[in-house]
Amino acid sequence: MCGIVGYVGAQQAAPILVEGLTRLEHRGYDSAGVAVLAGSGSTTAIKVAKRAGRVRDLAEALPKRFAGRVGVGHTRWATHGPANDVNAHPHTDAPAHHARVAVVHNGIIDNAAALRHRLTEAGVELASDTDTEVLAHLVARSSADTLEGKVSEALAAIEGTYGIAVVHTDFPDRIVAARNGSPLIIGVGEREMFVASDLAAIVRHTTTVAHLDDGEIASLTATGFTTYRQDLTSTAKTATVLDVDPASYDAGEHESFMRKEMLEQPAAAERVLRGRLDERFGTAHLGGLNMEPREIRAIRRVKILGCGSAYYVGQMGAGLVEELARIPADAEAASEFRYRNPIIEPDTLYVAVSQSGETIDTLLAVQEIRRKGGRVIGLVNVVGSAIARECDGGIYLHAGPEVAVASTKALTNMFLGFALLALQLGRVRDLSIADGRRLIAGLSRLPGQIEEVLAQEDALAALAGRLAEAESLFFVGRVRGYPVAREGAQKFKEISYRHAEAYQTSELKHGPLALICEAVPTVAIVPDDELADRNVAALHEIAARRGPLVVVTHDGVVLGDLDASGGVERVVVPRNERELDPILLTVPLQLLAYHAARRLGHDIDKPRNLAKSVTVE
Ligand code: F6R
Repeated sequence: MCGIVGYVGAQQAAPILVEGLTRLEHRGYDSAGVAVLAGSGSTTAIKVAKRAGRVRDLAEALPKRFAGRVGVGHTRWATHGPANDVNAHPHTDAPAHHARVAVVHNGIIDNAAALRHRLTEAGVELASDTDTEVLAHLVARSSADTLEGKVSEALAAIEGTYGIAVVHTDFPDRIVAARNGSPLIIGVGEREMFVASDLAAIVRHTTTVAHLDDGEIASLTATGFTTYRQDLTSTAKTATVLDVDPASYDAGEHESFMRKEMLEQPAAAERVLRGRLDERFGTAHLGGLNMEPREIRAIRRVKILGCGSAYYVGQMGAGLVEELARIPADAEAASEFRYRNPIIEPDTLYVAVSQSGETIDTLLAVQEIRRKGGRVIGLVNVVGSAIARECDGGIYLHAGPEVAVASTKALTNMFLGFALLALQLGRVRDLSIADGRRLIAGLSRLPGQIEEVLAQEDALAALAGRLAEAESLFFVGRVRGYPVAREGAQKFKEISYRHAEAYQTSELKHGPLALICEAVPTVAIVPDDELADRNVAALHEIAARRGPLVVVTHDGVVLGDLDASGGVERVVVPRNERELDPILLTVPLQLLAYHAARRLGHDIDKPRNLAKSVTVE
């Protein structure tokens, strides 16, 4: 999704903006641009450079003379109008040398068509196809005498979602930013200030930040910032220092962020468990849940909401809650939830799960539940993000920054977050202390066992090379294994661009078996559980149709004559408690996807058409 970075201070803005935009590349984009306020006093002018393509193309094309100490930059993900130089942001109210206003915008202005029509009727010549350009004109035409006032007036005319940053030649000491639905943070430096849609853009300069809330406007000068409501009454927001290591935003010696983040999983898993396991009572301590035992006992249902991989891990989480706490639980795609006018029950615990904490569909689902009086907790990685702030309580995932579009370590920590939640709910209800302790021991073994799976990388890479040759694949599993298959297929398709479809193994013969042949491999999830025999029977049906098989399983699962037939590859993961199987079965699928994509020569951290956080509906 689009990215924003802005700078006001004593340094030259352009290099800081371009570097910031490079750090936002992982969000996904198709064009990039920067604008600076050049000159001073009454001679202040706006300089703009923007173009379709990569940030490095923009950097190469920057004019030699592009000086200015205040500026805004943007990476655009096309919504209104194709990806070309004209539609790239920043947008101005006039051709660059006459422009007074430059705007960068994330989000979508829903009434853009009507506003464009109104402006055209009033004699304005619009240069681009975008919704954003109207904002530049609305700010320029406002009669308010401060930039904050002009922005506030312009925003009053628009409907939709936005994170914006605006500069104006009449107010050359400042940037005005505003948020409604698209994340924005303010970074505080030494006599310099930043604004960005993602901490990654500014973390090398500062970790002292303030998150803007929806409906807030911020005014930044080199010496400080002020926040307002849209009617310009003060919200007096202050900044806090985040506990993040800027180096964790660098890939370091790793060839990609995805590989780095996969390898970080054992350490990330330790972090999410640390201090939360209570051996004595065989339970978990989740201080952030804000729920009394009495309230936990009153829960009749658990409903988990997330998107994409977070939804699939939510399905794993629902399994954990049902098994450990014996509370009916299910997961649903947050993107669908609010459109079916859901019934919000007072005795249902709603759980929103999100790495970024900014996924708009998940955020809107949370708001819908809260509006109807439901209780929502969040499993969120990014501290202070919109979903985290919107929920009644929650569990931070402590996975550390996840930069690659394909989510790995955050997903693992989501699973562990669900295991902790299920354990705590279970121990307040019917889970015995012995079972609680058994699970605690299992959870404590997991980081080391994830390490063991990662150590199989070479063998998995060889296998992935063979899978990459297939145009189309199946991933199958049952019950605990089905969300694993869904997540495996998701990871495979998003970075290898191969068609990977997940199915319940039990459903194969009700349709998809028709597609099985030599050219269509199946990755089958077969843990050593109560369904192993049935799973193996289904594998025979695949083998009988000459379908190549990769079986992700435990040592000791008997595949019978399949092993002897030669067409079957085994990936063996360590045993843990059965309830915790899904995560160890998931990790090899990450490596399969990664190495298939690598074999196919794809840009692993920036898969085509995808963005790290999806902040438009
Ligand atoms: C897949 C992936 C996406 C995200 C989804 C939700 O690897 O990363 O499917 O899981 O967009 O994102 P968050 O967790 O940020 O809400």
